[in-house]
Amino acid sequence: NIERTLSIIKPDVTKKNQIGEIINVFEKRGLSIVGMKMIRLTPQLAETFYQEHNTKSFFKGMTEFMCSSPVVVICLKGENAIKLNREIMGATDPQEAKVGTIRRTYGESIDNANAVHGSDSPQAAEREIKLFFQEEEIFF
Ligand code: CMP
Repeated sequence: NIERTLSIIKPDVTKKNQIGEIINVFEKRGLSIVGMKMIRLTPQLAETFYQEHNTKSFFKGMTEFMCSSPVVVICLKGENAIKLNREIMGATDPQEAKVGTIRRTYGESIDNANAVHGSDSPQAAEREIKLFFQEEEIFF
């Protein structure tokens, strides 16, 4: 089942010059990059993107963090890409993430600096990809 999913390389990683390391992990683990751009999120876009969390206590701090430096948004494609990407990322809290996952290796805390975002369902993937990419900006 070939799927697409959305990944965001978060401000903590872009600030540390580790974008390439994250991209390398995706490609080495069998996910193909079919769309990619570096952008600085506006508060409006960050709030729309994370709308399902808008009642959470961490919403304001999290959306501000996501706008604090550029991010890299990536459309990934591959066999069971949504689940595979979540396995590659590891748990939301880097301290709980398994050894070898991106969040365990590159994340610092559940409180924002957890390196990457990944879509958590086919519905979320579709919505999130559409927020950042025109269909002609996705290849293959
Ligand atoms: P992400 O997968 O991008 O989806 C929601 C984000 O909220 C999550 O990763 C975390 O980076 C961020 N966040 C900040 N504080 C918390 C928290 N206490 N629990 C869960 N997520 C949090």
